[in-house]
Amino acid sequence: MSAAPPSSRGSWGSQFGFIMAAVGSAIGLGNMWRFPYQMAENGGAAFLILYLGMVLLVGLPILFAEFAIGRGSGKSPIDALIHFGGEKWKVLGMLFVVSGFLILAYYAVISGWLMTYTYIYLFEGSIGDPGGTFEAYSTGPIAIFTLLLFMVMTLGIVAGGVEKGIERTSVWLMPILFIVVAGMAIYAAFLSGSGPGYTYFLQPDFGDLLSLDVLASAAGQAFFSLSLGMGAMLTYASYLQRKENLPKTGLQVAGIDVGVSFVAGLMVFPLIFALGLQGQVGESTVGALFITLPQAFSEIGGFTGRFIGIVFFSALFVGALTSAISLLEVVVSTAVDTLKWTRKQASLVMGLAITAVGIPCAINLNVLTIYDTIAGEVFLIIGGLFIAIFVGWVMKDPVGELAKGMKSDRFSLQWIKVIRYVVPPLLIMALAVQVMKTIRVIAGIF
Ligand code: TRP
Repeated sequence: MSAAPPSSRGSWGSQFGFIMAAVGSAIGLGNMWRFPYQMAENGGAAFLILYLGMVLLVGLPILFAEFAIGRGSGKSPIDALIHFGGEKWKVLGMLFVVSGFLILAYYAVISGWLMTYTYIYLFEGSIGDPGGTFEAYSTGPIAIFTLLLFMVMTLGIVAGGVEKGIERTSVWLMPILFIVVAGMAIYAAFLSGSGPGYTYFLQPDFGDLLSLDVLASAAGQAFFSLSLGMGAMLTYASYLQRKENLPKTGLQVAGIDVGVSFVAGLMVFPLIFALGLQGQVGESTVGALFITLPQAFSEIGGFTGRFIGIVFFSALFVGALTSAISLLEVVVSTAVDTLKWTRKQASLVMGLAITAVGIPCAINLNVLTIYDTIAGEVFLIIGGLFIAIFVGWVMKDPVGELAKGMKSDRFSLQWIKVIRYVVPPLLIMALAVQVMKTIRVIAGIF
């Protein structure tokens, strides 16, 4: 099938393939650790309701907006923005590319740790001293090596093309990931003493919701988790054929993403509580993922503990890989369309350039934290805000574009109102909170 305009750019082989690729982008470290953690800390089931509200009010509308720009133009982000808005919108496209660079740079470092842990469980057995292990491998030569290895895999897949590289990988890996996460959640339910884990994760506390901080975290999480605000979904949609019902597809992608986040919580906390490690949940850093859970696996001990370690870390690795692909694709598709490079060239050069940008994170974790707070939170929200302004006030006939493939434009007309009047104020509020938080985090480091 090559109906996507212009066909030389490549296109998805099937609707299912596109959904799996988009879900692959969405599901990643954000679901498996960041979400369960935020939910437990910020009011349990009450936070879940707030989060669902944010997904509906800002996540989905922006997802539809990115889909509409991408499919409508059939171009990579910078060209797509120029196509609908003129030269000056190029700047927003550049912000997308910079975000892609910075997010992938640190994301790949963390993904490298996942590879190291999987390797240890596979070939060396259980991790007796997770704190020491993390200390030893999170920065330094091994971290740089696994960063490079991970990036080589990512760029190899992207170099393979849209259908043969990205789609084929996602169509195989995502269903495996669903089965593994669900299987582990069921396993955790049977461990004795897991009960309080559910309480910790789910117990509603509506009082927690009243702070602006929590509201902004929920918005930020919705953005990060759905891969919004930097043109990743835009780029994926640019390889779509015209006839698809975008809102329906978007709803499926978001529904699977939220579902996996939720089930990840049902896996992580019961496991930790069953093994009596609740005292250590408090460290909110990425480190907890690499310290507390391995500790739980060594408490389980023996072959079972090791097996779970392998399964858990390789599942996370799969989630991270399919997300990394989408981050690189934004940069690569831009180089292909704007600089007229070949896909293979662009994948290699950009992949290696991003690796170089990631090396400082693999040497000093403070750099990683800075990339994460600036690009992973602030840039994405700025990106989303301008996408809303672009689609709401600049782009010609977004309503018609979204309604293609639907029976009427009723839904589309409601959507554009949300994009114009609901999304911008919410994102401005979230941005203010995130900027303050970023300043606090950076001031804390220096
Ligand atoms: N959504 C991914 C996660 O939850 C991360 C990610 C991939 C991403 N591509 C993105 C985040 C684009 C923002 C923008 O781990």
